[in-house]
Amino acid sequence: MAIDYKKELETAAKNMILVHEPDLLIKMIVRTIVQKIKVKHAGILLRDKEKNSYVLNVSGGPKGIRVPAGFARMDPDNPLIRFFTTKRLSSVMKNGAFFYSDGEKMIKNSRIPAELREIIRQSLYQMDIFDSVAGVPSYFQDSLLGVLLLGKKANGRNLRHREIDFLVALASDVAMAIRNAQLFKDLEQELIKKHNMFINTTVALAAAVDAKDHYTHGHINRVTNICMEIVAKLTQKDKVKFSDKFMENLHIASLLHDIGKIGIPEAILNKPGPLTDEERKIINGHTLIGVNILQPIKELETVIQGVKYHHERYDGAGYPEGLKGDAIPILAAIIAVADSYDAMTLDRPYRNGLSKNAAMEEIETQSGKQFHPMIVQAFSELYREGKI
Ligand SMILES: [Fe+2]
Repeated sequence: MAIDYKKELETAAKNMILVHEPDLLIKMIVRTIVQKIKVKHAGILLRDKEKNSYVLNVSGGPKGIRVPAGFARMDPDNPLIRFFTTKRLSSVMKNGAFFYSDGEKMIKNSRIPAELREIIRQSLYQMDIFDSVAGVPSYFQDSLLGVLLLGKKANGRNLRHREIDFLVALASDVAMAIRNAQLFKDLEQELIKKHNMFINTTVALAAAVDAKDHYTHGHINRVTNICMEIVAKLTQKDKVKFSDKFMENLHIASLLHDIGKIGIPEAILNKPGPLTDEERKIINGHTLIGVNILQPIKELETVIQGVKYHHERYDGAGYPEGLKGDAIPILAAIIAVADSYDAMTLDRPYRNGLSKNAAMEEIETQSGKQFHPMIVQAFSELYREGKI
């Protein structure tokens, strides 16, 4: 049955729009070619920009005669690559493809300069290695993105004109699609890089607070770890699905919960004795100072809730607003438990820290008073499992 190449091209183009993974896309294209043109095998040599070389990415066809993918890596000096990147040789290609049989004629043609004939001769040798009868290049702007290498047709006949036209059109679409897919991937990587930079900046800011408060060394990291454990426990226990965004906000909020302490005088923060009421008030101001520091960053809107309300109490006796029960954002309620537990175990100049066990009992005692009962419950279970 005759193949409607126009339709095949349209189908391939649709797939290319949908698939953003270059590797997957190439596999699909090679499979289409092997099935539709009925060649014994096909492969794509694809440019690896970072390593400045061309790799046989995918190779498909009936078992036994395919060249294994990743088997070959060619640098730009490879004769086959040079064939497709030498401008003077583009005129010897028929309809945008290079045929082994044409190459054989050319190396005998004395009108072609000897230097070019040598490149052709060596290219044929490379095509022999891949058992290929034709190569179809794909370019983006002026650079060679890849070469489609085709084996013999299964029925032993030569490739027909319209098959070649189909392949050349496909190769040009593939070049564009690969280019798009790579741009998409670059963009994704750029986003990941930016995100990592943001997290690292957050960690650096948190470390600045830790360094300022002499008695709480490592406190922020421990609180962050406990918060993440609590949320994992809540998920497992109540099958509540917290979104990835929530987890991320909790992670950042727990790192930054005491950021406002940057604005509290060290003399008060590190005072070697009990605090006066006035000093206590100044320290309590760290929640709102934190809000002011982070307010300009609009992406931190939810994180700010954690910073602002991590000293609220379930019974409404906390600060800065005296919120009660479920009015306290869950993010802040989780930080409150983790923060209080770790703070209780720390030594202060005027008092020794509680043992882990005593701190744990205090948290349980405060369930429904200072802390949200559901979070205390999750925390107790984690403690008994030795995860805290
Ligand atoms: Fe705090």
